[in-house]
Amino acid sequence: MQLNIYPDEELAEIKPEMYGIFFEDINFAADGGLYAELIKNRSFEFTHPLTGWTALGNVEIHQDNPCFNRNPNYARLILKSGNYMGAGLENEGFRGIALHKGNEYRLTFYARLSEGGKANLHFGCITSKNDITYKNEMEISGTEWTKYTATIIPGETDDHSRFRIWMGSEGSIDIDHISLFPTNTWQDRENGMRQDLAQALYDLDPGVFRFPGGCIVEGTTLENRYQWKNSIGPVENRPYNTNRWYYSLRDRLTPDYFQSYGLGFFEYFLLCEDFGAEPLPILSCGIACQFESSELVCIDDLQPYIDDALDLIEFANGSPMSEWGKIRAEMGHPEPFNLKMIGIGNEQWGKIYPERLELFVTAIRAKYPNILIVGGSGVTAQGDDYDYLWKEMKRIGVDLVDEHYYMPPEWFLHHAGRYDSFDRKGPKVFAGEYAAHDMARDKANTFYSALSEAAYMTGLERNADIVHMATYAPLMAHIDAWQWRPDMIWFNNSAVVKTPNYYVQQLYAQNSGTHTIRITSNDSDLKGSHDLYATAALDKNNSELIIKVVNTSNQPKNLQLELNGRKWKLHGKPKVTVLQSDDLSTVNDFEHEHVSPKIGKAVVEKNTIHILAKKHSFNIIRVEYLK
Ligand code: AHR
Repeated sequence: MQLNIYPDEELAEIKPEMYGIFFEDINFAADGGLYAELIKNRSFEFTHPLTGWTALGNVEIHQDNPCFNRNPNYARLILKSGNYMGAGLENEGFRGIALHKGNEYRLTFYARLSEGGKANLHFGCITSKNDITYKNEMEISGTEWTKYTATIIPGETDDHSRFRIWMGSEGSIDIDHISLFPTNTWQDRENGMRQDLAQALYDLDPGVFRFPGGCIVEGTTLENRYQWKNSIGPVENRPYNTNRWYYSLRDRLTPDYFQSYGLGFFEYFLLCEDFGAEPLPILSCGIACQFESSELVCIDDLQPYIDDALDLIEFANGSPMSEWGKIRAEMGHPEPFNLKMIGIGNEQWGKIYPERLELFVTAIRAKYPNILIVGGSGVTAQGDDYDYLWKEMKRIGVDLVDEHYYMPPEWFLHHAGRYDSFDRKGPKVFAGEYAAHDMARDKANTFYSALSEAAYMTGLERNADIVHMATYAPLMAHIDAWQWRPDMIWFNNSAVVKTPNYYVQQLYAQNSGTHTIRITSNDSDLKGSHDLYATAALDKNNSELIIKVVNTSNQPKNLQLELNGRKWKLHGKPKVTVLQSDDLSTVNDFEHEHVSPKIGKAVVEKNTIHILAKKHSFNIIRVEYLK
């Protein structure tokens, strides 16, 4: 079959931020996941202050004269003569604590003696088989809160270890913010991220990084919304918040799911910088989740919410002399983060949303006219609510509209032309949450779901003039603590599974090129007829032609890709990458990576590339051009 490529027919510039990541603390993605803290409920602030902890003997929870005013709870261990039960605490971690033999872990906590004098505190690690793999002790003295630090090197590897701390002498010790981190974190930061998970995100080569969600932006109630100001400053004093994913999906209740905000907005901005991704923070518009409480701020009371948006821009970009820029500088980043975009609202619907959004837009435009504003189009990608919101987004004049679609793979296969006839005059599109839900296979991350996304994404790329950004969702899930699937990355306490969907996203991001050009078969775009989908781009920085072809049929296809245009010549050997599986139900798991990119073959003869696109395959061909 012949495909024609027209390099002189440039369709659009592809934004460097086109393919990115959507991060939300769902499925233990932050606490218990990317955020490398190993102790759950380190500040005793969960609704039940001992969640995650087992009290060993005499333990009380107090609040008077606390170490941290915004996290006031602390534990008191009391050992008096004649108390044979002892006094101590054991933490279970996030579905266990992964400790590796010979690796270093940094233990920190704050303590004081409630009655003065000195006392001995023992601490150690216990495996899931109850073997003690590390034990040490230290002296605690004085009645003032003091920070204590120790390095732990466990003698055994066990993903489901526990951490224990107990009185070694008589006395009464107050203790708070008991924290255990691997010293080997991403970029070796103290309040750091899990190395393997951050690396997996880095390897996606994301152009944009949307945070902190999703629904947690909105909150179940307004009080429970994500308040970025609570997520900055010293980690010990960032007030805890329940994570709404603890109860939102009633058949997957996770009552030990809270947000410590250890991974907060400062850390998100740092990650964006590490990854070379544009930060895209999303803030509450003053409406709590409309599936839950629908709580609403009166228009007259909206100013603090608008201030949150303005202050965030100052926190990210303001001079270290400004109120919020100063806090950023004090946290160790005097240079601006160069924020260019902000989103207001997540999955809102009805008149109440544009009414509020408009006020944000007016205020942001007045103070920061260069900041791009992202509005939303609701929960679904079609229907009356969606049409109404798009009309309102045009009226208000936001720069981009966030679209969400979680649909079956067949939908993705049938909608690769979704944006071909989209209105070019209004705001641009941010496909901010999407994923193919393979219902026949219990929403597993099957190769079928990934292949349908690859096919669909040819349509995003062909329409890069209107679709400026796209992020798969959700990003990550702990195998023992998830609420929602499919997810792009699965992990346990020490390993990562890159799904076929991960590789689709990675291949698009790594091979986006700079400009899309026309590719046709029989003068038509390739969007599913003959089970073929294709897009072509130039990478003008490297003088390369990049073609992506998805063959969704169960037969291989012999393709001739001809470069048309008098001045253009293909040059050198093509590089081909293929994601393929004969079995559409294949998934990757911790034992086997069945689907991953492989090197493929193609031959260039004059200006034609010959390739056999295997059945069920996503093929990327890169070849140099001369002009
Ligand atoms: O990605 C999971 C959830 O899906 C998001 O939090 C929400 O925006 C959408 O409903």
